[in-house]
Amino acid sequence: MGVAEHITPEAEEKESKKTKELFYHFFHLAANHPTLPAIEIKSILKSEQEPFHIEEELPSCIIVKCTPAVAKRVAERAAYCRRVMRLLFRGTAKDKSYDAIVKELTSSIDFLRVVHKQPSFLVRVYRIVNASKHLLSPPLEAAIGKSIFTALKGKIHVDVKEPAVTFVLLFTKERYLFGVEEFAQVKGVFAARRPDLRPFFKPGTLEPRFARLMVNLTQASSTGYVLDPFCGPGGILIEGAMMGLRMIGMDIDPKMVAGAAKNLQHFAPTSDYSLLVGDARKIPLHNQRLHAIVTDPPYGRSTSTFGQKIVPLLEDFFAQAATLVKRNGTVSISILSEIPIQQPAEAHGFYQEVSEKIYIHRSLTRTIGVFRKQ
Ligand SMILES: C[S@@+](CC[C@H](N)C(=O)[O-])C[C@H]1O[C@@H](n2cnc3c(N)ncnc32)[C@H](O)[C@@H]1O
Repeated sequence: MGVAEHITPEAEEKESKKTKELFYHFFHLAANHPTLPAIEIKSILKSEQEPFHIEEELPSCIIVKCTPAVAKRVAERAAYCRRVMRLLFRGTAKDKSYDAIVKELTSSIDFLRVVHKQPSFLVRVYRIVNASKHLLSPPLEAAIGKSIFTALKGKIHVDVKEPAVTFVLLFTKERYLFGVEEFAQVKGVFAARRPDLRPFFKPGTLEPRFARLMVNLTQASSTGYVLDPFCGPGGILIEGAMMGLRMIGMDIDPKMVAGAAKNLQHFAPTSDYSLLVGDARKIPLHNQRLHAIVTDPPYGRSTSTFGQKIVPLLEDFFAQAATLVKRNGTVSISILSEIPIQQPAEAHGFYQEVSEKIYIHRSLTRTIGVFRKQ
């Protein structure tokens, strides 16, 4: 390929004048699922309602043309995005030596301009699974770092702890992408709100990363309301509320509603949320035009269906969803893979946009379905 995408002085100037200018960005995604991380990024981009263009989809990486502000917001919101970079250069890695890559970068990128009087930098090399594993990370990081230091005539130093600028080289299959990191997910942010660490805990609640993914797949923005009618301890509500969405939570069990209130108060005290006790077969909301429903109904294993059979419960739920969700609104639902959801959803005027299986453990594979109201 060898297509140079370097930031020129002209591009920088233009950017400062017109903040709406679009640039190529590459999102480094989690490799734990082959398709969902990229679907999540595209869903969040749509919810932003700002211009973007998907340039290319690679394994665990997606190249998008958008403004730097949108790229950062999308990466911050995503559950399965590791980091996002402004693209400076992309090339092939096959049969290349360390020196050849360094030469390619230094001859294409005006590092002086990119670094722009920042005091410190760092170079990091990542790879998707085993891509280009013959090129080891430490020597490549050192070689690129040395050439940047030389290009800047020593007016910048390497800082491994808090660099002002982080350059990232990402190997994907036989290619590599090089850019400036604009946002990186902090390690441990999701682990800090693990279900068992919340003020109120009951088994059967979703992991925060998974709950956030489900919310993001709805393409909902903060302008409308999002309902979880089987909210339990509030795993989905917490993620939605933390992203600034206006959440409504409901559960048939008053103890769960009280627990969800405690959890929301702890994690998103200033967010716009409301909670009610009620039955998802007859949701006591009137004249609502919801943007989305995000939910993880019980299936009678670790959480109770209160004597209801799951298939008729889901049929009743979709009948209710059809009356509450606005046209073009969405339902994002996760359920045991053996339980049919497409048929009851379609019977009530929803069409399926996403259907993905997620292996949780030996006896649990979930399907995530996203349906749009016609
Ligand atoms: C799997 S849990 C939800 C967990 C939640 N998504 C979380 O991550 O914290 C399902 C919940 O559905 C509730 N439930 C069962 N039948 C219901 C019904 N007919 N209407 C509303 N809630 C119901 C249960 O009380 C349980 O709290």
